[in-house]
Amino acid sequence: MQIVIHPTARGAAEAVAWFLADCLYEDPGLVLGLPTGRTPVAMYRELVRLHRRGRADFSRATTFNLDEFVGVAPDHPGSYRQFMTRHLFADVNLDPTQTHVPNGDAPSPRAEAARYDAEIAAAGGLDIAVVGIGANGHIGFNEPARTLPSHTSVVRLKPSSRRSNAKSFGGSTRRVPARAISMGMGTILSARHVILLATGSEKAEIVRKALNGPITTMVPASLLQGHPKALVVLDRAAARRLTS
Ligand code: F6R
Repeated sequence: MQIVIHPTARGAAEAVAWFLADCLYEDPGLVLGLPTGRTPVAMYRELVRLHRRGRADFSRATTFNLDEFVGVAPDHPGSYRQFMTRHLFADVNLDPTQTHVPNGDAPSPRAEAARYDAEIAAAGGLDIAVVGIGANGHIGFNEPARTLPSHTSVVRLKPSSRRSNAKSFGGSTRRVPARAISMGMGTILSARHVILLATGSEKAEIVRKALNGPITTMVPASLLQGHPKALVVLDRAAARRLTS
């Protein structure tokens, strides 16, 4: 696992954007796994800037988002589909048919999860999965548990995960759906590269547990320690508790 520490959150996010732009230059047909949340906003901003300067071409790329809330339609302002449209899809030359986010509104969330997983497999799996880390160590919405789902599945969100998404649901934690469809740990770990981007001092303790602690399903991000090509990009604040 390679760990790179940047002085600022913006520097860390931009470094991931530049890395992705370089990878797209080398291999324009990349299949990318993408996160939502606070952390990647600056990364998407930089990708849009690079695209406008002709330095990031998405025309042949395919994207699969990590997760979506159950019961939330793609056009709901709190949906992750809308987040991606606002922060990336509307401003780069991705083919809309090649952008994938689980449909939170599907009549059967379980069938939707299976369909999504099959779609990832049909695309040949992920070349690069970009992930964030939740305060409890989750990746995607794979919450700490004694066992973790391997494939895309319907998961129950921990209260802390619902709380941190309240802003998109009028500030009310109760309005945040209790379940999500999340790419499974097996699917994420099968990506040829995994990039974890984490910034801010509130992530310092969980980053320490994930990177310096034992590999355990109780800290799902710790499973990245076993990935042959995991790159962890941090700012100084998120890295401040690391011991080595
Ligand atoms: C979102 C996702 C989550 C977030 C994590 C960190 O698609 O998969 O695992 O990456 O909750 O969120 P922020 O960046 O808001 O701290």
